Amino acid sequence: MKYYIKTYGCQMNHSDSERIASVLEAAEYEKVLLEDKADLIVINMCSVRKSAVDRVAGNFKRYKKYKKKNQNLKIVLTGCVLESDRERFEKLFDLVVDIKDMNSWLHSSHRSGAVEPKYKSFANRFHSPTGLWSQQSYFKIKPNYKSKFSAYVPIMTGCNNFCSYCVVPYTRGREYSRPVEEILDEIAKLVKKGYKEIILLGQNVNSYQLNCESKIINQKLLATDNLAIGQFDNKTIDFPNLLKLINNIPGDFWIRFLTSHPKDMTEKLIKTVAECEKVTPYIHLAFQSGDNEILKKMNRKYTAEHFLDLVKIIRKYIPNVAITTDVIVGFPTETEEQFQKTAGVMKKAKFDMVYINKYSPRVGTVSAKLEDNVSWKEKKKRENILTGILKRTALENNQKYIGKIQEILIDKIDGNFIYGKTKSFKSVRIELKIKNISDSASGQELKIKEGKFLKIKITQASAWGLKGKIK
Ligand code: SAM
Ligand code: SF4
Ligand code: F3S
Repeated sequence: MKYYIKTYGCQMNHSDSERIASVLEAAEYEKVLLEDKADLIVINMCSVRKSAVDRVAGNFKRYKKYKKKNQNLKIVLTGCVLESDRERFEKLFDLVVDIKDMNSWLHSSHRSGAVEPKYKSFANRFHSPTGLWSQQSYFKIKPNYKSKFSAYVPIMTGCNNFCSYCVVPYTRGREYSRPVEEILDEIAKLVKKGYKEIILLGQNVNSYQLNCESKIINQKLLATDNLAIGQFDNKTIDFPNLLKLINNIPGDFWIRFLTSHPKDMTEKLIKTVAECEKVTPYIHLAFQSGDNEILKKMNRKYTAEHFLDLVKIIRKYIPNVAITTDVIVGFPTETEEQFQKTAGVMKKAKFDMVYINKYSPRVGTVSAKLEDNVSWKEKKKRENILTGILKRTALENNQKYIGKIQEILIDKIDGNFIYGKTKSFKSVRIELKIKNISDSASGQELKIKEGKFLKIKITQASAWGLKGKIK
């Protein structure tokens, strides 16, 4: 039997798909690269914007055609699915299950015949004593990592913040922080296997918090702690503590983390990032709006002034840091004047990248009760203005790299091009006058390989990336 997983949405969903793939392969399903060759299609969906949901529904025509060709084909929908969409999707797909119901998914998919009987014994291994699914068992599934050198490691899931526009607390539930031993163990194994980039994931990684009585962990932490960073109260592991523990795992690797909420961004965390040599100088901190009234309506719990102060502190402690963000344009009632405040924050913060989102009302959220009164055309106009500011600040930031030596992690080699990322997550392209780097003797001599670090010199910069040459 053959499976195909289609993943929409953020890195959390991509990471979940690595666990779904692992479950399916344990049940002896074989991965195929083309969806029309599969006997089981798993759609891991995102509901953050209405357009993402409509896309899934829109694809149904294509799936119907596949079903005509292959009578055995089953289609399972999972991921971030809103309760209000469930009914209509249940009519379209063979099975709709919550990602947080992995265990019952295994059982119900067995019952519905979507997967084979041997699946059941595998499912039993993840049964909790109560018979209910638990996040604990789900995170214990060993993922089928997509990359051989860069791995997503979720450290928490869910969200308690209930920003008024956002579906995540409804689709992923409340915050759950993964046990620290489990995280350290997963990372230590990855590093031993030669992984060079560990990307810690969570909706708000900086609200990671765990009561931990483990003596071993406490000792490990005390060993990492120099008192300049802050005291550890012997019980609570917060995100800076976790970063220190991961940083202390022996090996040559980089640590990234996504995403951070401004209300939980502390000076202690910023100092920890600066002091931990494996933690990369890259911070994604979503600001959403530069207007305090809109921020209040969004339930974001900080002000534009506080956000800009944070940017200042980050730049003070972390030299050459890259800061990226998310913004929403056209939130209900956003006036031109309020939008200009968002543009003002962007000019001051000088971001390296901004993910600009046009507001999309989502059923069940608090802001959906407000009239979506900014037209699509106006949202588009505001998006274009912000893109213009971003182009200028990103170019200005990137130009500072010219002439500098940087270490990159090689992502890909294609013919005579090497593609990689700097420690600050800037994309770099290097052209060599060799026809095929992978095959050439000089390529091998220079140890140019995907997943290896390489020292280069930056020669050119644009707003969206850098060019370089081998040092
Ligand atoms: N937890 C992260 C934070 O608060 O920084 C954000 C996670 S959210 C899944 C990713 C981004 O989607 C948000 O930062 C926001 O800009 C955008 N987003 C969420 N709901 C949206 C909506 N209803 N319309 C437009 N954009 C939305
Ligand atoms: Fe959504 Fe807000 Fe939670 Fe981020 S913090 S996932 S925007 S509710
Ligand atoms: Fe989408 Fe769920 Fe991520 S709604 S953005 S896939 S957490």
